[in-house]
Amino acid sequence: MTERPRVFVSRVLPGGAAPGSPLATLQEAVDLSIWEAQTPPSAEALRTRAEGCDGLLTVLTERIDSTLLDAAPRVRVVANMAVGYDNIDVPACTERGVLVTNTPGVLTDATADLTWALLLAAARRLPEGDAALRGGGWGPWHPTWMLGHRVSGATLGIVGPGRIGRAVAERASGFRMTVLYAGRRAVPDFPGTFVPLDDLLARAEYVSMHVPLTPETTRMCDAAFFARMRPDAIFVNTTRGGVVDQPALTEALRSGQIAGAGLDVMTPEPLPADDPLLSAPHLVVAPHLGSATLETRTAMARLAVEGVLAGLAGRAPSNAVNPEALAMPRRRA
Ligand code: DGY
Repeated sequence: MTERPRVFVSRVLPGGAAPGSPLATLQEAVDLSIWEAQTPPSAEALRTRAEGCDGLLTVLTERIDSTLLDAAPRVRVVANMAVGYDNIDVPACTERGVLVTNTPGVLTDATADLTWALLLAAARRLPEGDAALRGGGWGPWHPTWMLGHRVSGATLGIVGPGRIGRAVAERASGFRMTVLYAGRRAVPDFPGTFVPLDDLLARAEYVSMHVPLTPETTRMCDAAFFARMRPDAIFVNTTRGGVVDQPALTEALRSGQIAGAGLDVMTPEPLPADDPLLSAPHLVVAPHLGSATLETRTAMARLAVEGVLAGLAGRAPSNAVNPEALAMPRRRA
């Protein structure tokens, strides 16, 4: 009898182990070990659990680096249940012949929807209104109370015209917005006008970030970035907290250099409740909920399971981040 591959899954997935669920599908083909806690495994616990495994299904809180890979020499696939894979040292995986997969596409709509939720809530000051009402601060209707910013007819700037940036831009047509976008190059059929980043920042009333976190984009939204934005502009970030210099954003909000912000991602995550960012005015925050719908998380889990199974079979699926890993010599366990 051939030995079944062993796979470590770093969190319980949507649907648990119910029949037909992503985990149940995986369990049919492999011996599973699951991290049952809500909180992530420590680096040491992850190493211990990964030892002797052939595959890993991880989420964005797990750091996959050379130390982990060297402690787990049988691992030949890491399927990350996220579109972003900044938690994974991809060159270290490739060098060792470890295939990496992510979950693009299935979370595009959910993340674009949440981007709009933050944009609208920040523009129309919904959390402030909600807090005023609940706190007894709702006075008689007044012409100048709680004035927000127009959305319909305004100019939206998309930084990073990938799948999610495009989906956010597409939704802007219902608001008759002018859409500008900035990125490395113009994208065919993108629903907006390609402009240099400086132009976008000078013109957009809403600036929405959709770049992946890379060394090049780390803290790209710094004091100079916010200084180039319009004073009536609102900043939205649903990609990774690392693209923002958070103290600079806090200061830009405090000083009124920009009009507001809507954030789904921060540094660190979870952000402590006493972080100075949270006392900045005109800020709407969500605790990294971009892909958090049952349908989307289930689809992400399914795609991650498919990634594990493909990697174990020596196949590179279309969502492989480093298909070239399969051409590397196999490690000896
Ligand atoms: C991702 O997929 O990268 C999100 O941040 C989590 O859904």
